[in-house]
Amino acid sequence: MQSERLRVLIVDDQPAVTKALEILMDIHELPHVSASTPEEACRIVAAETIGVVLQDMNFGPGETSGDEGVALFRKLRSVYPDLPILVITAWALVETAVTLMKEGAADYIEKPWSDEKLVASVKNLLKMRELEIENTRLRAATLADQNILKQNFDLRDIVYESAPMHKVISLGLNVARSDAPILITGPSGSGKERLAEIVQANSHRNNKPFVRVNVGAIPEQLMESELFGAEAGAYTGIGRRRIGHFETAAGGTLFLDELDALSLADQVKLLRVVQSGELLRLGSSITRRVDVRILSATNADLRNKIAIGEFREDLYYRLNVIELAVPSLDERRDDILPLACHFLSTYAQGNAPPKTLSKAAEYALLDHSWSGNVRELENRIHRAVLVSKGNEISSANLNLENANGPLDRTAIPLRDEELEERRAIVDALVKADGVVAHAASRLGVSRQTLYRRMTRLGIQIERMLTGTQSNSR
Ligand SMILES: Nc1ncnc2c1ncn2[C@@H]1O[C@H](COP(=O)(O)OP(=O)(O)OP(=O)(O)O)[C@@H](O)[C@H]1O
Ligand SMILES: [Mg+2]
Repeated sequence: MQSERLRVLIVDDQPAVTKALEILMDIHELPHVSASTPEEACRIVAAETIGVVLQDMNFGPGETSGDEGVALFRKLRSVYPDLPILVITAWALVETAVTLMKEGAADYIEKPWSDEKLVASVKNLLKMRELEIENTRLRAATLADQNILKQNFDLRDIVYESAPMHKVISLGLNVARSDAPILITGPSGSGKERLAEIVQANSHRNNKPFVRVNVGAIPEQLMESELFGAEAGAYTGIGRRRIGHFETAAGGTLFLDELDALSLADQVKLLRVVQSGELLRLGSSITRRVDVRILSATNADLRNKIAIGEFREDLYYRLNVIELAVPSLDERRDDILPLACHFLSTYAQGNAPPKTLSKAAEYALLDHSWSGNVRELENRIHRAVLVSKGNEISSANLNLENANGPLDRTAIPLRDEELEERRAIVDALVKADGVVAHAASRLGVSRQTLYRRMTRLGIQIERMLTGTQSNSR
């Protein structure tokens, strides 16, 4: 969290009201600052870290129209769209206050106010604001770090904005220049091969052969000759000498994809070559030295395979000097929309500009459980581009309903701050009877921001309000 605490800005021209609010804030140990005119308020917001604005509707003696309050509100809203503003109003102006809520005011409080309600509301808004600032800071830091990487490395046009992806890519780049074998793990379609390409492109072998072998696609009886080569006549059906993938990759990099598909017998042979740096072509008695850096990938749990005797532990440690674990797309939801945009450009037809996503389509993407990871996202966007009629892709075009079902974030552990944020949001949604727009106002954030957070935190209104009338708009 940021070191400086966010302050409450009290804006009122009546000294008695200001004083009462200041005392209330002091009692609850909420840092605050006061302004008696709209101009002063604007100056303070520009200069200090304000978390919540508590503003009156009228300034100046005899003023009762509320016009000045509305003007101040609109001015602050236009410059600071995410700054929560709590309007304090006399009964006569409640209607105006309601209008302001539609324009994004966090809430309004009628005079004479209840101390308890006012303080609860302020605390809640401060907390949300803190989390929002922290999240923005983290995202900005990731993007800035990414730019530094882009200037110094070849990222092979990989698309990401999430912190977990940044971490694994940075680690990959750190170890790329060594010759250490790397095991890339992660679920199917998450981008393991992409990461292998990045490692290779940033290694000192980047202008040497990069040989990709899908171990899972090679029949067991051909594995040895495919990997290590065979002399003519080594076995029936082989009329001429075969150069194996290891020799083809000499001086460069060999990428063994679907490593888990290797039989135990072939694991022994592979281990021997990796340990000695020498190989024997099938049917030959001449050992040949090979200088090859090995990258391998699997979506299987190799530790589990070791436990049940299907994978050799010694080979595992040989190949897994460094492990790069690619997170599933569900664990890095900040990447969903950037990737979707990227695929919209990839699949734009002819010279046409890329199609765009409707808001509902964005929410649908964010709410989906991506068991097929990036590959599934790519396929769905490709399909949507083809089936959508206009320039905008609707949520129906994505055909996500009844697919993998909505995301169940309960499966992914939340951090403490996230748990707190989740509680605050659920609380606001319950109080707003599940109407997201009202809950967003209560929390002092835009509806879009609230949707994003709900998705990230796995909050589903239908589940939350079972038995209650629910309305997601
Ligand atoms: N971060 C990314 N940015 C852009 N494209 C990506 C990214 N991650 C994956 N892709 C694309 O998604 C597809 C799947 O990625 P990739 O083949 O690297 O996944 P994988 O983990 O190797 O999958 P599998 O386990 O099925 O082999 C590819 O078309 C790849 O180009
Ligand atoms: Mg792959």
